Amino acid sequence: MKINFTKPVPTERGALVFLIGEDGAMGAMAAHINEQTGGQLSRALDISEFKGKAKSVVEVVAPSGRGNSRILLVGIGNVEKLTATDAEQLGGEIYARLGGTTSRTAAVMIDEIEGLAIPTEELAARMAFGARLRAYKFAKYKSPPKKDKPDSKNLTTLSFGCARHTEAAKLFQPLESVARGVCLARDLVNEPANSLTPAEFAKRCRKLADIGLEVDVLREKEMRMRKMNALLGVGQGSANSSRLVIMRWDGAEDADAPMLAFVGKGVTFDTGGISLKPGAGMGDMKGDMGGAAAVTGLMAALAGRKARVNAVGVIGLVENMPDGKAQRPGDVVTSMSGQTIEILNTDAEGRLVLADALTLTCEDYKPEFVVNLATLTGAILVALGKEYAGLFSNNDDLAARLTSAGEKSGEKVWRLPLHEVYDKMIDSKVADMKNIGGRWAGSITAAQFLQRYVGETPWAHIDVAGTAMDSPATAINQSWGSGYGVRLLDRLIADEYE
Ligand code: BES
Ligand code: MN
Ligand code: ZN
Repeated sequence: MKINFTKPVPTERGALVFLIGEDGAMGAMAAHINEQTGGQLSRALDISEFKGKAKSVVEVVAPSGRGNSRILLVGIGNVEKLTATDAEQLGGEIYARLGGTTSRTAAVMIDEIEGLAIPTEELAARMAFGARLRAYKFAKYKSPPKKDKPDSKNLTTLSFGCARHTEAAKLFQPLESVARGVCLARDLVNEPANSLTPAEFAKRCRKLADIGLEVDVLREKEMRMRKMNALLGVGQGSANSSRLVIMRWDGAEDADAPMLAFVGKGVTFDTGGISLKPGAGMGDMKGDMGGAAAVTGLMAALAGRKARVNAVGVIGLVENMPDGKAQRPGDVVTSMSGQTIEILNTDAEGRLVLADALTLTCEDYKPEFVVNLATLTGAILVALGKEYAGLFSNNDDLAARLTSAGEKSGEKVWRLPLHEVYDKMIDSKVADMKNIGGRWAGSITAAQFLQRYVGETPWAHIDVAGTAMDSPATAINQSWGSGYGVRLLDRLIADEYE
């Protein structure tokens, strides 16, 4: 789908969309078209008892006096309270109402709106962003439609007409890159594990060199040299060998600008290993690389919009399988940091992967902060469901910034505590620590484990087990893999570090 920003001149072809205020008030353009159609628009609003509620839609098909296929009247709710994320949802709903119709082109006409809380050019750009995200589909494994029945129900061009269209187009440019990053993350999460092995994931990261990222891939031999035995132990039962990918974006103008680091859990499939998971729902574990997908999508977004920061993304890619060579419960491994780990449950594998990835990141890059994302625990779903991701941090400033970026981007986080008492729960009798806590506070003990691998570096861990996959349908996402985290972290960087 092509997205354009044009002068606010209503076309005579395809679909037209107008925004209607809370009191049912039409802007000047809509009022003019209403006249042209002999009052069809206002009659349609009356008959459907339209109140202008946000995202409510009235459709007038084949309006008289005009060549348009249809005119949509879309409520925008209280304009004085309209936020950027509201605008995104509005764009998503408009796409949804048009995407399944026979109209191939559509133009959203944005009148000057009195009292609007955000500039109209931002309204236009954010609506376009929302439409882009809503339009995402993972259809690569669906047979194409039959030749004699071409798929005519596809919007090919969506334009936004507003007075400050040049400004709107400019605002949309970076958003388009962020949308690409989100869709890349969604693709990675949706991809089944027989195709997306650690090697294939790394290959897709390598391709990002095309947009200016510097990409390094460590294979098992190199990881063995760096003593990453915690990560390697998880992958040792799989026929698909492990990888670690390092993606760098150097966009800061300042020579001694700080390095921002992002680390992702990339378990391309999690069977649980010898501590095998039950069969029901195990297919979802193809998404156990949602943290790594978000980091990859974020790095792509930063490169795409040429962000003025230095950032590094590190993802640990492994497959957790039961096998004659697989790691056993009771095994002890020495992590890259030198700390030893007694593995009591091979299904608590994400923290083992992250331990070494975090150690490497802190040692090699001495970052300003490190934020890791991981589909780490089922317990975070019990605590927070699918609306908020769990946030853990050793740094109040970083936690506050992430919380605020979450509110602004719509990808929300909720902070949970860390405490010495929880930390004690992972002490082991035979090694420095064990990889499971007790029955309670499973998300917190997992976070305590990670904290032991970051030293004094300001760090935050975001548990995305509830938000990265099996996502509820929303105005801007209909995909199983949501791409959660890309918009959150892009927002953190744009607002606080550029
Ligand atoms: N990948 C899972 C966590 C998960 C569960 C993600 C559900 C998404 C949806 C993780 O590796 C895991 O198995 N965690 C265990 C930890 C336990 C063994 C301490 C869990 O949550 O049960
Ligand atoms: Mn697991
Ligand atoms: Zn896992």
